[in-house]
Amino acid sequence: MALTVVGSAASHAQDRSGFEAKIEYCKTCHGLSAQGYRGWFPMPRLAGQQPQYLENQLRAFLEHRRTNPVMANAAHGLSSAMIASLATHLKNLDPKPIGGAPRGSLAVGKRIYEEGLPDSNVPACAACHGSDGKGQNEIPRLAGQLYEYTVGQLAGWTKTRGSATDTSAIMAPTSHNLARSQVEAVAAYVSYMQ
Ligand code: HEC
Ligand code: HEC
Repeated sequence: MALTVVGSAASHAQDRSGFEAKIEYCKTCHGLSAQGYRGWFPMPRLAGQQPQYLENQLRAFLEHRRTNPVMANAAHGLSSAMIASLATHLKNLDPKPIGGAPRGSLAVGKRIYEEGLPDSNVPACAACHGSDGKGQNEIPRLAGQLYEYTVGQLAGWTKTRGSATDTSAIMAPTSHNLARSQVEAVAAYVSYMQ
């Protein structure tokens, strides 16, 4: 009996230190508060991200449905329990956006975000991502996301994420119908949302 208790306390402590080591590893790239980081590649913000979305993406990296060699490697071997713990921890972080996006087209970006571009068949982003940009369930938070990362995702959607998840096809027409300058405008706008 006593032995069982000791054993379970020890394995609990081990789980805990496994988690701490793992989240520290994630933060070497994604930033100390998971606010994102401008490195060799843009490391996206994970802070405040919707757990359901985050879990979907980690599984997609693990199973090579979302193609990215860096994250396929970083996600390697993550258990379902670890993925859930990481997602819960990250959801509760709330650092300020890192900023640094060009400010010239913020008004255009705001209009696209709130109203879409009816003539180009682009729906209002707010309709799904929320008027505060926080997302819900499998729809990601965009608020405070790194400008360069968002531009890259929208520009390369079909290639890297076209059939990555059950919900990834939803974004395909929107990513096609936005011109480059419109992608840049809306990416800059959301990067400053708190
Ligand atoms: C060596 C650097 C590195 C490490 C370590 C790393 N990541 Fe990443 N991560 C990246 C890069 C780069 C991307 C962007 C991939 C892309 O462009 O598709 C990314 C993307 C992601 C995404 C997708 C974000 C989104 O908004 O769709 C998630 C989720 C993620 N990482 C979680 C993690 C977790 C959890 C860990 C720790 C287990 C981790 N990462 C460790 C570099 C890293
Ligand atoms: C019909 C609902 C819907 C609308 C409208 C919509 N999105 Fe999305 N968006 C989604 C879903 C769902 C995902 C997650 C897809 C997945 O599973 O990979 C997503 C993902 C994204 C991502 C990837 C985020 C990340 O962290 O990698 C970006 C960027 C994005 N959307 C931008 C936009 C922009 C900009 C608009 C408006 C022009 C927009 N979306 C309109 C549903 C929508």
